[in-house]
Amino acid sequence: MAKNVLVTGGAGFIGSHTSLALLEHGYNVTVIDNLENSKEEAFYRMKELAGDRKDALTFIKGDLRDFATLDKIFAETKFTAVVHFAARKYVNESVEDPLRYYDHNVCGTVNLARAMQKHGVKKLVFSSSCTVYGNPQRVPIDESHPLCAVSPYGRTKIINEDIFRDLHASDKEWRIVLLRYFNPVGAHPSGRIGEDQVKLNNLMPWVQAVALGHRPELAVYGTDYATEDGTCVRDYIHVMDLAEGHVGAVRKTEETEGLGTVAYNLGTGKGTTVLQMVHGFEAASGLKVKTKLVGRRPGDAEAVWAATDTAERELGWKAKLTVKDMCEDQWRWASNNPDGYDTAATAAAR
Ligand code: UD1
Repeated sequence: MAKNVLVTGGAGFIGSHTSLALLEHGYNVTVIDNLENSKEEAFYRMKELAGDRKDALTFIKGDLRDFATLDKIFAETKFTAVVHFAARKYVNESVEDPLRYYDHNVCGTVNLARAMQKHGVKKLVFSSSCTVYGNPQRVPIDESHPLCAVSPYGRTKIINEDIFRDLHASDKEWRIVLLRYFNPVGAHPSGRIGEDQVKLNNLMPWVQAVALGHRPELAVYGTDYATEDGTCVRDYIHVMDLAEGHVGAVRKTEETEGLGTVAYNLGTGKGTTVLQMVHGFEAASGLKVKTKLVGRRPGDAEAVWAATDTAERELGWKAKLTVKDMCEDQWRWASNNPDGYDTAATAAAR
């Protein structure tokens, strides 16, 4: 019998791709999402992409801070595991309104863990971030690198990781995988689901917005770093690879007795500069992305990339897709959905 997985935040960028991957690997998926930073349209598109697995996908509009909703969901369905994405994710916003971040990201997580404990569901995959390493002391960054919050957003990720470590210490039945993503980009190769442009923040949404003519130019933050072309280096990872990493992590919780709380980096292990990403996107789209070279962005690290051997060894997973794939798939999504999920055609069809 197919196993049920609850995916919190499953209508979001990484959540939607992961939910599809879980369906493809034979799991039944229940998504809970408050749709604050995501759209129900993502769910319709996921159903469409799920093909004959579409009836195994269920959507519940709900907020993790509401315990009664969670209690009901866990009472109605027996889940083998939970994949927990639901959170707010904008660094700037977290600096301006930290309480909102502690409320959503920490209180939401505590509620979820309480509901899981009450209903005896003790396998969890948590969406963490390489932001927990702060400004790196060394690269490649391995999982034993010290943790350091550089924003309230980053602190919520560290606090949640600590909560899960404490939870496991109190009850050894818990099996918890913390996945620390590097820089997720790209989209489903169908071009039907991708990152909705709720707020422009990270590099690739900006590049995409300039290519589409929604913004006049991309500010390149800093050209005097000690890197190949003077711009910062990051470890960009295709969202389809990330999604597969989550399937590996769910399996790990199912198969590993005494797992405890373990952290894995999900990255490619390769660094790419800002300008290399811009050129990759230009090649994929056939368009020029106008850039303006400006000064460094405060707080930016020069170079960040992951040590990936632990995830490869222990999850049986390795990122396969290239920067070319990331740019081509992201452009397919962007060009087919220039306004994200909010297209006139979408509105007319529903
Ligand atoms: C950001 C987040 C981090 C999150 C990570 C993964 C911040 C401070 N940190 O880090 O918490 O875990 O994304 O998604 O937001 N760049 C430009 N012009 C732009 C935007 C970005 O040149 O308009 C450059 C940046 O200087 C950086 C690179 O592009 O060198 C990547 O930036 P970004 O996408 O914001 O990711 P991170 O800084 O790695």
